[in-house]
Amino acid sequence: MRIAIIGTGYVGLVTGACLADFGHVVTCVDKDPVKIEALLAGRMPIYEPGLEDLVARNVREARLSFTAELAPAVREADAVFVAVGTPSRRGDGHADLSYVYGAAREIAVAVAGFTVVVTKSTVPVGTGDEVERIIRETRPDADIAVVSNPEFLREGAAIEDFKRPDRIVIGIEDERARAVMAEVYRPLYLNQGPLLFTQRRTSELIKYAANAFLATKITFINEMADLCEKVGANVQDVAHGIGLDKRIGSKFLHAGPGFGGSCFPKDTLALMRTGQGHGVPLRLVEAVVGVNDARKTAMARKIVSAFDGDVSGRTIALLGLTFKPNTDDMRESPSIPIVYALLDKGARIRAYDPQGMDEARKVLGEVDYRSSAYDCIDGADAAVIVTEWDEFRALDLDRVKRLLAEPRIIDLRNIYRPEEMARRGFRYESVGRRA
Ligand code: UGA
Repeated sequence: MRIAIIGTGYVGLVTGACLADFGHVVTCVDKDPVKIEALLAGRMPIYEPGLEDLVARNVREARLSFTAELAPAVREADAVFVAVGTPSRRGDGHADLSYVYGAAREIAVAVAGFTVVVTKSTVPVGTGDEVERIIRETRPDADIAVVSNPEFLREGAAIEDFKRPDRIVIGIEDERARAVMAEVYRPLYLNQGPLLFTQRRTSELIKYAANAFLATKITFINEMADLCEKVGANVQDVAHGIGLDKRIGSKFLHAGPGFGGSCFPKDTLALMRTGQGHGVPLRLVEAVVGVNDARKTAMARKIVSAFDGDVSGRTIALLGLTFKPNTDDMRESPSIPIVYALLDKGARIRAYDPQGMDEARKVLGEVDYRSSAYDCIDGADAAVIVTEWDEFRALDLDRVKRLLAEPRIIDLRNIYRPEEMARRGFRYESVGRRA
């Protein structure tokens, strides 16, 4: 198969590299010539474990190439994947579809022969219909089928998730397109990766429903954590105790500072707007959005109350800034409102993150960045674990205690054990567990 991928963001780049690795001939297209130049030189625009090697191998084998020219790549393709961004539209929270529709127009002009246009971007229900309308309006003679194929990969585990997915969802209403998609995913199919064919609108909704459900699980356990703190229960045991019930499942029940990232916040908001737009208010999703927003500032209050309500002039060392480990992504990271709330209360903020400091510099104000965790906590009045990088689990706690001006740790990810921290003489607070 010859495949063109429009957009070399997280999803586009990983999809392109993985499909090339399956043996397809893939051209990744991006409007940004600087990004393309970097990719041609072997530099990745994002940090994702394993991606650089995967890209290099497939470029070497001549299965993967990069270009800023959309038309030739689309003209030759059997399938064109649209993997452009669908950010929240400023003001109303609906998904901004201008990049998707812009790509549709450009694709329409360039297609030749039967071409399957696959929407990989996360798009609201009905977007496939509009993409098809745009293409047919621009090129009434075009022989195309528009398919929805949402992506479920997680940042930090993107390649593994793409290559060993729980399922592949394909929303399709055209038999020829079905054959093309089956061929695209044949290697996974042969590995028993379940291919779920459904209608296009259903497929579009599956993506939002999945993200909203996962966000709900997280929000539920976060509220349980708050209750645990008040009643003296342990949220990790609650999560374990309910998660063993297969109907509930153990995943996505880690209490923490609230979900962030480029997907859950924007997708829950967009789904909420879709519901409202159709006169079906999704009250549960609305609650999740509200509770999660409030949680981020509540975490700042938790830190302040560890200092008996006054952090002014205190030095607080944040360990981890990205919204989750194994990424450099700062989008909607809980660290952002936490930093601003603490600065507002007069604290001095130091920070260290294994990968995220370049991105953090673009969004955070007066932060003193340090080049290691130990350097960051040296002389600080408290260390706050914001992101659960493995590096922080492995810290030498005796050294940490010696370096801190006061042995105070606020662990928003529950990476240490309260009993052990108490035994070591730390003033330790975590989420949903009594010290
Ligand atoms: C999420 C979904 O997990 C993917 O399936 C989906 O494809 C992706 O969004 C997307 O729509 O593109 P991602 O945002 O990369 O993936 O990261 P997650 O691992 O899902 O974490 C999201 C947020 O939830 C993070 O802030 C994380 O810290 C938080 N989280 C996750 C918790 O607080 N507790 C948990 O138990 C799990």
